[in-house]
Amino acid sequence: MMIKLASLPLVLAAAAWATCCANCAKAQDLPNGDAVRGKQLYMRDGCTHCHGTVGQGGGGRTGGLRLAQMPIPFAAFLNQLRHPANEMPPYVAAVLSDQDAGDIYVFIASLPQPPDVKTIPALND
Ligand code: HEC
Repeated sequence: MMIKLASLPLVLAAAAWATCCANCAKAQDLPNGDAVRGKQLYMRDGCTHCHGTVGQGGGGRTGGLRLAQMPIPFAAFLNQLRHPANEMPPYVAAVLSDQDAGDIYVFIASLPQPPDVKTIPALND
């Protein structure tokens, strides 16, 4: 199909919309959660002990994984809580509901990227 030059802005706008909507779809994969409540639960339920207060990881006996910017979808997140892969204690539904887990997931998803190592002077001496 030939695209007339006059319709080019429209085509570009459609392409931009499609790109945006790919990201929007990703955002919709998030469970319907409350990041503020999620943070409270995350602090209350001991996640910080192993995963750190901002999801940086490194705590506990084995060093809980870094959670900030974790690439796993909600289903895998929930599965890890209910049936941990290894050292992590299980969080059964009676203790932490699916909604609680959703709130924690949304809180973790809101955590920022760590700073670039190059921007930390002490690591560049
Ligand atoms: C006693 C330490 C400990 C506590 C407390 C803990 N975790 Fe973990 N977590 C771990 C360890 C160690 C792993 C690595 C896998 C394993 O051992 O199951 C892990 C793995 C995970 C993963 C998988 C990350 C990935 O990228 O695959 C998620 C998600 C997670 N924890 C979330 C949580 C949340 C949310 C809480 C609080 C409700 C929590 N953890 C409490 C130690 C802990």
